[in-house]
Amino acid sequence: MNPPTLRPMTMADYDGVIALMHQTPGVSVREADSREAIQRYLLRNPGLSFVAEDGAALVGCIMSGHDGRRGYLQHLLVVPAYRERGVASALIEACLAGLEAIGILKSHIDVLATNETGQRFWARRGWILRTDLRRYSFVQSGGDNV
Ligand SMILES: CC(C)(COP(=O)(O)OP(=O)(O)OC[C@H]1O[C@@H](n2cnc3c(N)ncnc32)[C@H](O)[C@@H]1OP(=O)(O)O)[C@@H](O)C(=O)NCCC(=O)NCCS
Repeated sequence: MNPPTLRPMTMADYDGVIALMHQTPGVSVREADSREAIQRYLLRNPGLSFVAEDGAALVGCIMSGHDGRRGYLQHLLVVPAYRERGVASALIEACLAGLEAIGILKSHIDVLATNETGQRFWARRGWILRTDLRRYSFVQSGGDNV
């Protein structure tokens, strides 16, 4: 096992990233993760999503983007055999550095309420649990996995 290397995610990584997401508890895969939607996301947010790989094997990923004001991180995961080696921290840092370089200084992450490990992970890195806000979402059309 080698130390994973990080590089920007491209559409060539799509199938591998989605496969990792499907096999990782704590990460949800939605219709918004379709090939077309992720292509749009990567085009809108160039150089802000990353994969970690050991040779040809994908061992981690993260996606980030922004709306011009705030950054949004999502889909962070590291495969179990590569955890607790700083891979996730490096992926996060890559996103935050990229966001900072374009003037985005504050970012958000949604964590499933059932993902207690994930919540502890973010809290230990200094991310603040917002108890002053409630997120409201609206589905314009479609089913319950939009
Ligand atoms: C959460 C997750 C991404 C963390 O990945 P990771 O690569 O293990 O994260 P890191 O290695 O950066 O940090 C994990 C711990 O290992 C420690 N660590 C880092 N390098 C280390 C090393 N060389 N030796 C020992 N421990 C180390 C870190 O200090 C950290 O401990 P802390 O949280 O108590 O500070 C991973 O557990 C995962 O994929 N979980 C399932 C998906 C998920 O929940 N994603 C988050 C959704 S919001």
